[in-house]
Amino acid sequence: MCGIVGYVGPRESQDILLSGLARLEYRGYDSAGIAVIDRDGALGMRKKAGKLARLRETLEETPLAAGTTGIGHTRWATHGGPTDENAHPHLADDDKLAVIHNGIIENFSALRAELQAEGYSFRSQTDTEVAAVLLGREYRVAGGDLQAAFRAVVARLEGAFTLLAMHEDHPGLVVGARRNSPLVIGLGEGENFLGSDVAAFVEHTRRALAIGQDQIVAITPEGVTVTDFDGNVVEVEAFEVSWDAAAADKGGWSSFMAKEVAEEPDAVAKTVLGRVHDGQIVIPELDGMDELFQGVSRVIVLACGTAYYAGLVGKYALEQWARIPVDVELAHEFRYRDAIVGPDTLVVSISQSGETMDTLMAVKEAARLGAKTLSICNTQGATIPRESDAIVYTHAGPEVAVASTKAFVAQITALYLLALHVGRVRGALSAEVGVEAIEELEALPEKIQWILDNEQGRIEQLAHWMTDTRSVLFLGRHVGFPIALEGALKLKELSYIHAEGFAAGELKHGPIALIEPGQPVFVMVPSPRDGATLHSKVISNIEEIRARGARVIAVAEEGDAAVLPFADEVLRVPLAAPLFEPVLSVVPLHIFAMGLATAKGLDVDQPRNLAKSVTVE
Ligand code: F6R
Repeated sequence: MCGIVGYVGPRESQDILLSGLARLEYRGYDSAGIAVIDRDGALGMRKKAGKLARLRETLEETPLAAGTTGIGHTRWATHGGPTDENAHPHLADDDKLAVIHNGIIENFSALRAELQAEGYSFRSQTDTEVAAVLLGREYRVAGGDLQAAFRAVVARLEGAFTLLAMHEDHPGLVVGARRNSPLVIGLGEGENFLGSDVAAFVEHTRRALAIGQDQIVAITPEGVTVTDFDGNVVEVEAFEVSWDAAAADKGGWSSFMAKEVAEEPDAVAKTVLGRVHDGQIVIPELDGMDELFQGVSRVIVLACGTAYYAGLVGKYALEQWARIPVDVELAHEFRYRDAIVGPDTLVVSISQSGETMDTLMAVKEAARLGAKTLSICNTQGATIPRESDAIVYTHAGPEVAVASTKAFVAQITALYLLALHVGRVRGALSAEVGVEAIEELEALPEKIQWILDNEQGRIEQLAHWMTDTRSVLFLGRHVGFPIALEGALKLKELSYIHAEGFAAGELKHGPIALIEPGQPVFVMVPSPRDGATLHSKVISNIEEIRARGARVIAVAEEGDAAVLPFADEVLRVPLAAPLFEPVLSVVPLHIFAMGLATAKGLDVDQPRNLAKSVTVE
C-alpha cells in the first residue's frame, strides 16, 4: 500500500523514479508524485491525483528541471481523499524539504495541533504532511543534520511508517526510516536506490539490502549507512533478487493477470523444484527444526484474503498427513482476541507480499505469546519472513496484478510441502502415502496447463455471455469449500459483481433462500472416485438448487459423467487425488473472474479501491 522509490547517483533521477513507480503502481493508484533536486541544487516537485499516467501528463505540460537525486510515491489514500493536495511528496522548511510516506501515523492529530500552536500551517489533510512539517522543524533544531532530524521525528511518531526525505541543502542524499512498513535498499555502482520492494529498482540492480525494523538509512552515490533509531550503526542482511526485471514485465500479454494466470503451472513447479530428493520432501530452509515439529501439539495458520483461503486448504493437508490439529484464522481477528497460544503452538503465516500489516501484527503477537512462527512468503527480504523463526518461500515470481492468482496456487503447494515434510518428521506419514503424494504434486503443473490449453477459451466465452449477471454463488465441500470462497472473492474484486461462496452443506441452513430462477451457481464437484461420498452429497446439493431454478456451472473432473444430467455447464479439470483438487479447480474460477471483468471492459490489474500489499491495518 503506497509505493516508495528513492534514487541517488549520476543518472537523470526522473526517469528512474517514474519507471520505479510504474512497477510499484500495484501498491496504490490514487495519486502519484515525484521530487527532484536539480543540478542547481533547487528542489522541484510535481504530483497529481489519479494514476501514474496523469503525473506523466503533468510532467510533460510542466517539466521538472533535470537532477540526479529524487524520491517518488504512488498512493493508496488513507488520511485525506485522493486529491492533488493530498498526493505525496509533501514539502516543508520553505519547500526545501520533500517527504513521502507509507503507513499510518496514528498520533498525527496531536502532532498537528502542537505544530499549529507553534504557527506552522498545513496544505493537506494527510498524516504525512505532519511528519514533513515536524521533520522541517527538527532539521532546524539539529542544525541541518537530516539524519539527526529523522531520529528526533521517529521518536515522536506512533503507528506504522516508511518515510523518505531529501533536502535541497544536501543534494546526493536520501534518508529513510521504517517501522512496520517495508523499505529495501538497492545497491548499484556509483548509485543507490530505495524502494518499498525490489520491483522499484530491479531493472537497475539485483543486489539488495533488507532494512530491519526501527532503522534509519541514508543513501548517497558512494554508499549506504543504516542505524537504529538511536543512531547506532547496524549490520543489514544482503540478498540477491532471484528474478529479473523481465519477470515483472507484462511481455506480450493483455494484462499482468493474464500473464500470471498463464504462469500458474510454473508457480507450482518452481515451488516444488529442488524440494524433492529420493522420494521425500526435503525443505532445506527447515533444517534443524525437526525437534520443534515433533514437539508441537497444534498449528494456527494466520493470513488474510486469498492467502487465508490457501490456509483453509492447507488445514486438510496438515491434519491428514501430519496429524496435527490446525486452526486457520484471519490474522486481524487473531490479533485482537485473547488467543491461547504457547510454546507448543506453531503459527504458520501465509503472505504473498510478506508485508500485510494485519498478518505481520498477528505474527508478532503470536511470537510475544511464545509461539514458534513459520512464514510462507513469495517476497524476498519482506518483513513477515524476517520476523519469523523459519521461512518457506513460494517461488511464484513477482505478482503484479493486484488480485492474487499464481501466488495462491503456489501457497497451497508450499502448504502441501510443509504438511508432507512435517508428517514425515513426526512419523505420521507412511512412505507409501508420501510417495503417492509427491507424484500427485509433481503432476500438478501439467494438469493446470491442460486446463489452460483446453478449457480457457470456453470459460472466457461463458464469462462473456454472463457480463450482465448481477450475482453469482459458489458452492464447495471439503477442500472445495475454500475454493468456492476464492472463486467468489476473485469475481467480486475483479468484476464488482456480488458473489458469495458457501460450504455446500450449509446451503439448506439458510443460503438456499437466495436461489431463484436463473441464479448462476458454480459448484466444485469432488471426484466420484475414492468412496464417492462427497461426490454424491454434492450432486444432491446440485439437485436441491436446480429444483429451485438455479443455473448450475459444475467444475468437475474429466470423465465424471454423473454430473452431466444436473449441470447446465461443466468445466473440466484433470483427475487428481482429492487433496490436490483445489489447485486444479481454482484455475477455471480465476479464468472466469478475469474473463468476466475483461468482457465488462474493467482493468483486471488494478481493480477499484484496492491495492496490493496492504500495509495498513
Ligand atoms: C485477493 C488478494 C488479497 C490478498 C490479501 C493478503 O485477490 O490478493 O485478498 O490475498 O490481501 O495479501 P498477502 O498475501 O500479500 O498477505
